[in-house]
Amino acid sequence: MGERFFPATVMPDRDWWAALWPDPEGVLRSLGIEPDMLAVDLCCGDGYFTAPLARIVGGNMYAVDIDPAMLEKTRAELERSGSTALDLIEADARDLPRLLPGKVDYVLIANTFHGVPERTAMARAVAAVLGPGGRFAIVNWYPLPRRRTVVLDKPRGPKTEMRMSPDDVRADVEAAGLALERVVELPPFHYGAVFRIARESPSEDKL
Ligand SMILES: C[S@@+](CC[C@H](N)C(=O)[O-])C[C@H]1O[C@@H](n2cnc3c(N)ncnc32)[C@H](O)[C@@H]1O
Repeated sequence: MGERFFPATVMPDRDWWAALWPDPEGVLRSLGIEPDMLAVDLCCGDGYFTAPLARIVGGNMYAVDIDPAMLEKTRAELERSGSTALDLIEADARDLPRLLPGKVDYVLIANTFHGVPERTAMARAVAAVLGPGGRFAIVNWYPLPRRRTVVLDKPRGPKTEMRMSPDDVRADVEAAGLALERVVELPPFHYGAVFRIARESPSEDKL
């Protein structure tokens, strides 16, 4: 394996991140995260989406990041918002199947997938931890030129050439045995691609 940190995935500064994402809880709800789920915030960063996710699922979640400083911020963010998580796990996202005690209902990876070097392998690791009916959501920047994605008066986000279309994401993730269910618009510059296991068991298909 090459670099431990995925390229171009440094956590953005809070000022423009909060300006770009004024309603993180609304974003998560639009992606289909529901209160009875067991969820994972993969590559959670400083907890900007983790705390609202924990609120929705009542603490029934794990957060994973390779950077201990980010996990400390996530811990503080959870405390500040009066939420909890089952565990904050310092690890490489690619090791996901070895990190969790069992299957989960929902894995979110936000603003990170564009930097993952072997994306199909990453999606395979996620597929391995999804239980029946499980979902995998990828929040990504649309492939707009960086000069056009201006937030608080400056171009923001990954380099133009690193940005992926929903079709690019679909090709990488469906190769891992997941199927695209829907693409959610997350204006002004993002989308969420939601995947599920391609084939549930035959008995479920008949129901
Ligand atoms: C751009 S931030 C996104 C944070 C958060 N998901 C959000 O959207 O607000 C990407 C995060 O991925 C983490 N990261 C980078 N490489 C990783 C790896 N191999 N395994 C786990 N986390 C990783 C970084 O430490 C960083 O906190």
